[in-house]
Amino acid sequence: MTSQSCEAAMTDPRQAFGGRTAVITGAGGGIGRALSLHAADLGMRVVIADLDAARLEEVRRELSDVGATVLAVPTDVRDADAVDALAGAAHAAFGSVELLVNNAGIESVGRIWETSPETWQRMQRVNADGVFNGIRSFVPRMGASPHPTYVANVASVAAVTSGTMNAAYYASKHAVLAMTECLYLEAGEQFPRMTVSAVCPAAVRTRIFEDALTDTADPSSTDEVLDTMRGHLREDGITAEVAAERILQGVADRQFWIPTHPERFAELTSRRATMLNQLTPPTANVAKEIQQRGNSPAPTG
Ligand SMILES: NC(=O)c1ccc[n+]([C@@H]2O[C@H](COP(=O)([O-])OP(=O)(O)OC[C@H]3O[C@@H](n4cnc5c(N)ncnc54)[C@H](O)[C@@H]3O)[C@@H](O)[C@H]2O)c1
Repeated sequence: MTSQSCEAAMTDPRQAFGGRTAVITGAGGGIGRALSLHAADLGMRVVIADLDAARLEEVRRELSDVGATVLAVPTDVRDADAVDALAGAAHAAFGSVELLVNNAGIESVGRIWETSPETWQRMQRVNADGVFNGIRSFVPRMGASPHPTYVANVASVAAVTSGTMNAAYYASKHAVLAMTECLYLEAGEQFPRMTVSAVCPAAVRTRIFEDALTDTADPSSTDEVLDTMRGHLREDGITAEVAAERILQGVADRQFWIPTHPERFAELTSRRATMLNQLTPPTANVAKEIQQRGNSPAPTG
């Protein structure tokens, strides 16, 4: 098996995806909206899904205004039946799905023992179960397609590290990465034309920390982290449009690992590899590091 760095040739995403159908969850804003617009620009029909029907309708209108073929399906990715219905609607409208991006995700901030069971479960159900539901509802039909198909699960740099005040998010993203590695192996045995990718964004300028859930006995501690992370995304983050372009290029290139910030990803994975190889305890503490660097470029999201 070759490493990604050996496969340098870039594929024209328009050739890989033009005329095909994309399904993108969490498309009502941020990275999902930008992925939808970029997919449409590459000539794809786009099925967009989001929990927030009003935001989804705005994105549907934007896509229509640029002449895209678009179907909007309000969907809660936590609900397996709703994701089945999304797959049914996509196939009924367009006959096949070639690209699935399981992108919907949410943030929470707070110490692990102060996190309510409701917040913990919501985090795992949106971020991890949502990806599982997408795989379950779409992969069998995509795998049986005579065309190349692509499944991209949006994890995070948080999937390869850990830190304080954000455990529900780290745990959910570690789960997404493990699920995606397993899907890669199983699809490799069953579906030779399917590409599986783990998307690992670092800081991207979106609303994710505006909508973050918080539970704490000490609001000043969560406020400090929220301020730091919002400032970090605002000042150091790349735009969702740049992230979307990098992600769809990586998918077209059939990469498993798709970091939006390759250098930052390499730094975090190498720290993790050292920790595991030398059996040292965890040291990463992303929000604190950002504070200490005074918001200089780096970290996570
Ligand atoms: N922004 C970053 O810096 C960053 C970094 C690493 C990973 N990510 C990941 O990228 C993905 C997209 O995040 P974003 O930054 O664009 O966030 P965002 O908040 O801008 O967009 C997320 C979208 O998901 C939708 N959503 C929330 N719950 C849902 C549900 N139950 N069902 C369907 N849709 C739901 C929201 O309504 C929203 O439109 C997430 O998985 C996130 O964890 C983001």
